[in-house]
Amino acid sequence: MLERLSASRRWGLVVALTAVAVGAASLFALRAGAQGDALVVYSARKYQLVEELFREYGQLRGIEVKFITDDGAPLVARLRAEGRNSPADVLMTVDAGDLWRAQSAGLLQPAKSATLDANIPAHLRDPDGHWYGLSIRARTIAYAAQRVKPEDLSSYAALGEPRWKGRLCLRSGKHVYNQSLVAILIAEHGEAATERIVRSWVANLATAPFSNDTLLLEAIAAGQCDVGIVNSYYLGRLQAERPGFPVALRWADQAGSGVHVNISGAGITRFARNRAEALRFLEWLSTPAIQARFAGANFEFAANPGVEPPPVVAAWGPFRQNVINVGKAGELQPAAVRLMDRAGWK
Ligand SMILES: [Fe+2]
Repeated sequence: MLERLSASRRWGLVVALTAVAVGAASLFALRAGAQGDALVVYSARKYQLVEELFREYGQLRGIEVKFITDDGAPLVARLRAEGRNSPADVLMTVDAGDLWRAQSAGLLQPAKSATLDANIPAHLRDPDGHWYGLSIRARTIAYAAQRVKPEDLSSYAALGEPRWKGRLCLRSGKHVYNQSLVAILIAEHGEAATERIVRSWVANLATAPFSNDTLLLEAIAAGQCDVGIVNSYYLGRLQAERPGFPVALRWADQAGSGVHVNISGAGITRFARNRAEALRFLEWLSTPAIQARFAGANFEFAANPGVEPPPVVAAWGPFRQNVINVGKAGELQPAAVRLMDRAGWK
């Protein structure tokens, strides 16, 4: 039905520069040709992953959906600076920590939605409804399919064992995905044990940390290292582009707490001008058909547990996920950053 509507109307995509300088952020306005109040989204999720869905929602509702894209931290800073003058109705991020920080700074308001509470599992949302996970990003172990036996891999901590000396690749410790992973390890094991784990990883590094997960996966494929920690969707992209890409995934901590998951998610801003539409928009994003596309476009897992992943993703097999509330990643991130610094994770 959405596709039919989409094809039956003509759309203009207006890419406008904002009147004020906003750093790297760009403003996109998707015009629906109707007169309801616009919905404004600040999105850390990349343009190409959200544009089609945002346009479709605008068409469905007969409104204009305007959005800017930037990294999560600058978007949160911008919301804070704008205060009650912010035009934003929705903040969308690719890490729970950013949502948690926005909430802590009083920049979000509770949604209070039975639909969202029913569609999104409790560990993927704020208990008071300030933010909701919309897709799951699993951070787990990647390995060289031809050089490593999967049964030799188990927990995150075991990547610090001597057998992986000079064989481990990591992404930069400055990146929020790793900071969230370490924050969750702190929540489970405490600071002292987590510091021992992180130090053992650093001691096993084959080479300096990489600036992104794709380079890390390429390094495993090229034989620079044998194992690493990545978000699974980066491998999904590579496998879809290059069938036979010689790297596989092992689901971490299956005998323990389960795979560390983070979210791409969203919340309604404290000073939203169009609160009702923002709520309706989040509810729409949580429905199964939209969930499949929101997550599937990037080889992620839907937050709504009733949604099947695309074949490339399903091929990795099922896994048990850690059900600690993802908000912990935000709460414990400052401690994680200090710990990683002490342990020498560059
Ligand atoms: Fe990512």
